[in-house]
Amino acid sequence: MSPRAATVGAAGVLAVVAAAAVLGITTAQLTADYYDCTCPDAYNIVKQVLIEAHESDVRIYASLTRLHFHDCFVQGCDGSVLLDGVPGVINSEKGAPPNNNSARGFPVVDKAKAALEEACPGVVSCADILALAAEISVELSGGPKWAVLLGRLDSLNANFTGASNLPSPFDNLTVLEQKFKAVGLNNVDLVALSGAHTFGRVQCQFVTARLYNFSGTNQPDPTLNSAYRAFLSQRCPQNGNGSVLNDLDPTTPNVFDKNYYTNLEANRGFLNSDQELKSSPQAQGVTAPIVDQFATSQDVFFKNFAQSMINMGNIQPKTDPSEGEIRCNCRKVNDS
Ligand code: HEM
Ligand SMILES: *[C@@H]1O[C@H](CO)[C@@H](O)[C@H](O)[C@H]1NC(C)=O
Ligand SMILES: *[C@@H]1O[C@H](CO)[C@@H](O)[C@H](O)[C@H]1NC(C)=O
Ligand SMILES: *[C@@H]1O[C@H](CO)[C@@H](O)[C@H](O)[C@H]1NC(C)=O
Ligand SMILES: *[C@@H]1O[C@H](CO)[C@@H](O)[C@H](O)[C@H]1NC(C)=O
Ligand SMILES: *[C@@H]1O[C@H](CO)[C@@H](O)[C@H](O)[C@H]1NC(C)=O
Repeated sequence: MSPRAATVGAAGVLAVVAAAAVLGITTAQLTADYYDCTCPDAYNIVKQVLIEAHESDVRIYASLTRLHFHDCFVQGCDGSVLLDGVPGVINSEKGAPPNNNSARGFPVVDKAKAALEEACPGVVSCADILALAAEISVELSGGPKWAVLLGRLDSLNANFTGASNLPSPFDNLTVLEQKFKAVGLNNVDLVALSGAHTFGRVQCQFVTARLYNFSGTNQPDPTLNSAYRAFLSQRCPQNGNGSVLNDLDPTTPNVFDKNYYTNLEANRGFLNSDQELKSSPQAQGVTAPIVDQFATSQDVFFKNFAQSMINMGNIQPKTDPSEGEIRCNCRKVNDS
């Protein structure tokens, strides 16, 4: 049951339980103390691996936070994004457009898994490693802390089509709202979780249309701040190398803070999907006031981000042994 259900009335809870029974859905229970007996050091073991990885890769905290998102939005948080391809058996999500040449951090997940297998063999799922890694990454970057809910099983398959349908940087607000709603997340979740674009990097290919040919107009996106446009045009020339990296938040590139929202207020969102939350005609009175609120108060943003990460972490968890397993190797289904 998602934490949000706790805020609806008893009748609502009963209706949800009844609907779940009719649909044959097991209402999965994740808990913060899931590994307290079986692997009490799980959190610290993952944290140590991340701190070490960060010494040679300042971007890793952002990359791991994104991996949890790409996992949860595709058939729930079940480690499906971590599976390598097996011809005729597993069509890896890693090759889907939103991940190919973009998703990163897999070797660090492998290291965390190896350290956990050493300490408590066969106990901690890869899906839970991603949930822990996201919290640790945000916290170590200056963001909020929260109690990560645990107890997910790893999937037995991957879904390339699902991964191809992840939210796109070219989506408008209506489509973004739909894609979040499809996994049970609302507009507050959409705005709060997009705040993860306060750290990490982004390739030029995702902004060139806004710089040179917005919606096929052969003109730049009129909402883009002109000084920021000039800056980005230098870094990302028309017909230049689309793989060149930029900061998602040029003000504090590696810090988890509320500057993503102050950037949006100044029309300095990098992606179309970012600026839509503030500037779309459809955003007025809907998501724009939430952006305003988070731009004003880092405390309000942090509280909402933590709750929305818990909500995202609760997307379709597999807890019944018939639907998943604890993988030995995050890249492969057991006995394959
Ligand atoms: C709202 C819809 C979203 C869209 C359209 C979107 C799109 C993108 C794109 C295109 C990139 C750059 C990828 C690249 O250049 O290779 C990116 C990076 C990133 N995204 Fe999102 N994203 C969304 C939501 C989220 C959410 C919900 C989170 C996490 C809670 C997240 C966390 C990140 C992070 C941390 C990075 C930087 C990763 C790195 O440096 O490796 N994004 N996103
Ligand atoms: C991923 O990108 C590479 C180019 O770097 C390409 O060769 C490959 O076909 C892509 N994978 C898929 C599944 O499209
Ligand atoms: C894969 O994802 C697609 C799109 O989200 C969905 O329609 C389909 O049912 C999923 N397939 C499986 C086998 O879960
Ligand atoms: C948003 O994008 C969808 C899909 O491209 C399109 O059908 C819809 O008309 C767009 N909505 C607005 C308000 O632009
Ligand atoms: C701009 O985009 C439109 C529509 O996508 C396309 O037809 C046109 O060729 C593009 N212009 C340039 C200069 O690439
Ligand atoms: C494009 O940029 C990427 C990232 O900086 C670099 O690795 C790659 O070699 C560049 N490609 C070309 C053709 O210059």
